[in-house]
Amino acid sequence: MNHSLFRKDIRPFVLWLSSLLLLTLAIDYLLHQNQLKWIERYSGILGTFLIVISFAYSLRKKKIITFGKPKVFLMMHEYLAWTGSLMVLVHGGIHFNGILAWAAALAMLVAVISGQVGKHLLKKSTDTLNAKKGDLAREGLSNEEIDKKIFWDSLAVKTMQKWRTVHKPITIVFGITADLHIFNIFMFWRWSR
Ligand code: HEM
Repeated sequence: MNHSLFRKDIRPFVLWLSSLLLLTLAIDYLLHQNQLKWIERYSGILGTFLIVISFAYSLRKKKIITFGKPKVFLMMHEYLAWTGSLMVLVHGGIHFNGILAWAAALAMLVAVISGQVGKHLLKKSTDTLNAKKGDLAREGLSNEEIDKKIFWDSLAVKTMQKWRTVHKPITIVFGITADLHIFNIFMFWRWSR
């Protein structure tokens, strides 16, 4: 069997990420074309709300919430966080007025990407890498030859293993910068540009 790390695991991840960014651009374009820019403001609030409720998964994992299946909470966490991020990106739009707001948006993107790497890509990629190693061993290759053949794949997996060092701190940075941005908006109410 052919176990290609890129085709099986990394490509769907790249597709998932590019669809988030491309959809943002498409929605932003449509809103601007149809004089519906005001929707951007409200999509920021709705997106933030969706991201906040997506964290019910963490409460379920820590057993603060005791009802419901953790699997269902995880699925909800993924869909809500993806949709919420899309709405927040649409909210950011393609304009640049404030560094703080963009720092929050960037931290959000890195948090979403590193979370996805940690939760799914890493596990799938490790399975694919192990399956590939098994195939090569069955073909009679020595350990050294196997290591050479899987060099790039195992480097990719090793890099992904560092996701935890990124995910938690950047999620905290995201929380702080987003709060500061929201606080800033309420202090100096600038709903219209
Ligand atoms: C996850 C949370 C959020 C992120 C990452 C975020 C990010 C952004 C970004 C990137 C911009 C564009 C700034 C620019 O044009 O340079 C922006 C603008 C704005 N945001 Fe947010 N936002 C979030 C939540 C909110 C919420 C909940 C509100 C309202 C309560 C809000 C109100 C606004 C307003 C009024 C502007 C326009 C400010 C201006 O043009 O100077 N945002 N935000």
